[in-house]
Amino acid sequence: MEEQKQKKILCVGLVCLDIINVVDKYPEEDTDSRCLSQRWQRGGNASNSCTVLSLLGAPSAFMGSLSAGPVADFILEDFQKFHIDVSLLCEHAQCVLPASVVVSNISTGSRTILHMNRNLPDVTAEDFSKVDLSKFKWIHLEGRNAAEQVKMVQRVETYNRSLPPPRRITVSVEVEKTREPLYQLFPHGDVVFVSKDVARHFGFLSAEEALKGLYGRVKPGAVLVCAWAEKGADALGPDGSVVHSDAFPPETLVDTLGAGDTFNSAVIYTLSNGGGLQDALTFGCRVAGRKCGFHGYDGIAENFGN
Ligand code: ADP
Ligand code: FRU
Repeated sequence: MEEQKQKKILCVGLVCLDIINVVDKYPEEDTDSRCLSQRWQRGGNASNSCTVLSLLGAPSAFMGSLSAGPVADFILEDFQKFHIDVSLLCEHAQCVLPASVVVSNISTGSRTILHMNRNLPDVTAEDFSKVDLSKFKWIHLEGRNAAEQVKMVQRVETYNRSLPPPRRITVSVEVEKTREPLYQLFPHGDVVFVSKDVARHFGFLSAEEALKGLYGRVKPGAVLVCAWAEKGADALGPDGSVVHSDAFPPETLVDTLGAGDTFNSAVIYTLSNGGGLQDALTFGCRVAGRKCGFHGYDGIAENFGN
């Protein structure tokens, strides 16, 4: 349906400042060393996912909280650079923008994150109640204030009931952190992304095991997806068969910061264009693998025909 195709993908969640320190050797505690380079980058899972969607050529919108001041201005300018719709940003002028200090080790590709959110609140169901849902074909929620986010999904479900299936909004949720309240999101997505961390927390040793063990928590008909770093990713849908893609490691592993957010976006991109689950997983791993080969996100879509 042409009208549906034009609609945007909305990502709800965090935007923060990433202060990235690139090193070739992880520092010893209580030493004073130099980085190879240092940069500021717009970060946060939902914000990174918007970046990747934009680079893939899908119009995206971000909904989250932002403070005021020079750091917020840096973030806003960067959203604009990527043509991400920020009309749903909730401004909290008196708050401090969350920030992460990241040590990005080019010898291993590892990213060590120290994150702090002093006082910026997440968007609420009340904020979400003002969103004009008719603009969106897909809404992705980064699991954060889960109880509020369940109410947001319920609003989308009510909206969907008034529409024929082709015009409905697909909802995806990400359960990435090992926090008990986030697990209430499992039954609330048409597509549910569960992280390796959460899978391990539940005692599962592989993506396939995790999918089989956790599938009972998702709603009937939903797809559960689990990425597992250099092992690629698996997914399980209502037909009961596990789909797998190997990872696509870059020639040199440089920077894995945001690999998961990149993977999620590429999966959402494919599924929202009517692609199948296998294609979505393979594309997710290809784009995420590509991302791991350079700093940041800019070169992500090269050679993918976009
Ligand atoms: P994150 O830690 O950012 O959440 P994941 O570990 O979930 O990321 O990985 C997401 C996807 O990124 C994986 O499915 C894989 O395709 C790709 N990826 C991550 N790390 C690597 C790596 N070391 N080599 C190749 N691909 C990787
Ligand atoms: C990457 C990321 C960073 C941010 C951190 C927050 O997935 O979103 O951009 O600093 O995670 O947990």
